[in-house]
Amino acid sequence: MPSARIIGTGSYAPAKVLTNADLATLVDTSDEWIRTRTGISERRMTTGAEATSDLAYQAALRALAAANVDVADVDMILVATVTPDMFFPATACVLQDRLEARRASAMDISAACSGFIYGLAVADGLLRLGTFRTILLVGAETLTKIVNWKDRNTCVLFGDGAGAVVLRAGEGPRGILSTHLFADGAKGPQLMIPGGGSRHPISHQMVEEGLAAIQMSNGNEVFKVAVRAMEDAALTALKYNSLDISDIDLLVPHQANLRIINAVGQRLGLPEEKVCVNIQRYGNTSAASIPLALDEAVLAGRVKAGDLLLLCAFGGGLTWGSAVIRW
Ligand code: UT7
Repeated sequence: MPSARIIGTGSYAPAKVLTNADLATLVDTSDEWIRTRTGISERRMTTGAEATSDLAYQAALRALAAANVDVADVDMILVATVTPDMFFPATACVLQDRLEARRASAMDISAACSGFIYGLAVADGLLRLGTFRTILLVGAETLTKIVNWKDRNTCVLFGDGAGAVVLRAGEGPRGILSTHLFADGAKGPQLMIPGGGSRHPISHQMVEEGLAAIQMSNGNEVFKVAVRAMEDAALTALKYNSLDISDIDLLVPHQANLRIINAVGQRLGLPEEKVCVNIQRYGNTSAASIPLALDEAVLAGRVKAGDLLLLCAFGGGLTWGSAVIRW
C-alpha cells in the first residue's frame, strides 16, 4: 500500500500584533496573568476584511513552493477551520479559485483545534487508497473575529494564522505512519459558539446575548480534559506503532496553553527540547496551530529526513487525536 508523505510546509500570520498590554486596555487582565496562566505574550490579528481564505492562500503558496509542486497537480484541497469565510461555499472552494487549482476537489473540515489531525487522517486515507496523488491540507483561522472582547476568560487566548502542508502518495518507509481520532459530543457545550446556525439563527437578540462568540463554560475542566486526552492519544499512537517515547524526535502539540503543553510533555517523559512551542507569539490558533508550529520547526532545521514526529491535538467538539510521521 502506498504511503502519504508531507513534501512541503508553509505558514502565514497577519502582520498586526495584539499584545497582552493591548488586551489589558479592553478587559480586566494583565500581562503577568496571561503569561503565567497561558504562556501567551502576543497574538496576530487580521484587520478589516482580511478573511480566513486570505491567510490560507499565503500559507498554501509557501507550502506549494517548498514542495516544488505546480498548483495544476493538486487533486484535492482540504481546509480545516471553524472560522470559514462564510457558511458556504467552503473556504476550500474559495481557496481553490484563488489558487486557480482547477483540477482540485475541495472541502472544509470542522473539528476545531483537532482539525489539522482530522485533515491528515482524511488525506492519508485518500492517498493510500490511490484516489488522489497530491493533496493540499491547510489549517487556517481568524479566531479574533469570533471572540467576545468583553469576556476575559476567552478573549486573551486566541489568535489568527494559517499553516499548510502538501501531501503526496509515495512508496517506502517515510510518511504518515498512523492517525488516531477521537470525539465526545456530550462534552461539546464546554467550548462552543452556540448561535448563528440552525439552532439559534442570526438575530439581533442572539448577538446581544453573546451567542455569536466563543464560550468556554469551565476553562479549568477543559484544561484537565485536554491534558488527559492529548496524553491518551499520544500513548495510543506509540502503542499502535510499537514505539517508545524515546524514539520520538519531536512532539508538535496543539498550542492551547503552555501549561497544557508542558504537562503533556512531562507525562509522556519528553525533554523540553523535543517539544515544539510557539504559543507565546501566536496564542491559540485552533486548526492552524500544529501546521504553523510544524512549518517553523522545518524552517528552523529542527526536522531531518527520517525523524519521527508525534502530533497531538485537542479542541471543541470535543475532539482530539494524534499522528505519527516518519519525516
Ligand atoms: O484549544 C483547546 C481548547 N482550549 C483549552 O484547552 C483551554 C483550556 N483552559 C485553559 O487554558 C485555562 O483554564 C485558562 C487559561 C482558560 C484559565 O486558567 P486557569 O488557571 O484554569 O484559571 P481559572 O479558570 O481557574 O480562573 C482563575 C481566576 C478566576 O478568578 P476567581 O474566580 O478565582 O476570582 C478567573 O476569573 O482567574 C480569573 N481570570 C482572569 N484573570 C485575569 C480568568 N481569565 C482572566 C484573565 N485575566 N484574562
